[in-house]
Amino acid sequence: MKPHHIHDILITPEAIDQRVDELVLDMAKECRVEGIVMIGILRGSFMFLADLVRDLYRHDVHPKIDFLTLESYGAGTESSGTVKVTKDISVDVNGAEVLLVDDILDTGRTLTFAVDLLRQKGAKRILTCALLDKPERRVIPIEADFVGFTIPDHFVVGYGLDYDSRYRELPYIAKVTLLDE
Ligand code: IMP
Ligand code: MG
Repeated sequence: MKPHHIHDILITPEAIDQRVDELVLDMAKECRVEGIVMIGILRGSFMFLADLVRDLYRHDVHPKIDFLTLESYGAGTESSGTVKVTKDISVDVNGAEVLLVDDILDTGRTLTFAVDLLRQKGAKRILTCALLDKPERRVIPIEADFVGFTIPDHFVVGYGLDYDSRYRELPYIAKVTLLDE
């Protein structure tokens, strides 16, 4: 981990709260389906998904919940483009409607991989949700059905997102500034 600071808060806890409420209003219309399965991509989505499902409950949405752990391997901070399953889902999604939740849509490789995987497993309909979207970074053309915030090309942490496994616990989203830049 290079010397860095994380003093610049990009999105406050209040702004996240408010946006989660708005997203859930839209989502609830699409997700009030018997047997809908929500799948969080780990580890970045754990906090976002926890907030979403509690809010969805208030809109009478009762999904099955599971997690998919994916990792992309590569040298340094740039991913190589190879995504691998390190822990698969246990719930059966054959014929099911699925809502996939990720922390951030960056190159698009992770979400594309997850959508393909669920399609192979027989999911009937796949909706996608990303808390953050960095459209400038896209390598594979994919858009999420629900996006929390569109942000510029800057590495961020907090609210589930990490820098070298740290800062996931922050209740806000902050920019990582490398000190030697
Ligand atoms: P993609 O496969 O390039 O779209 O990247 C998605 C994954 O890269 C996310 O699930 C994150 O784990 C990670 N990632 C991309 N940008 C950031 C960032 O700014 N902060 C923390 N993690 C990020
Ligand atoms: Mg991640």
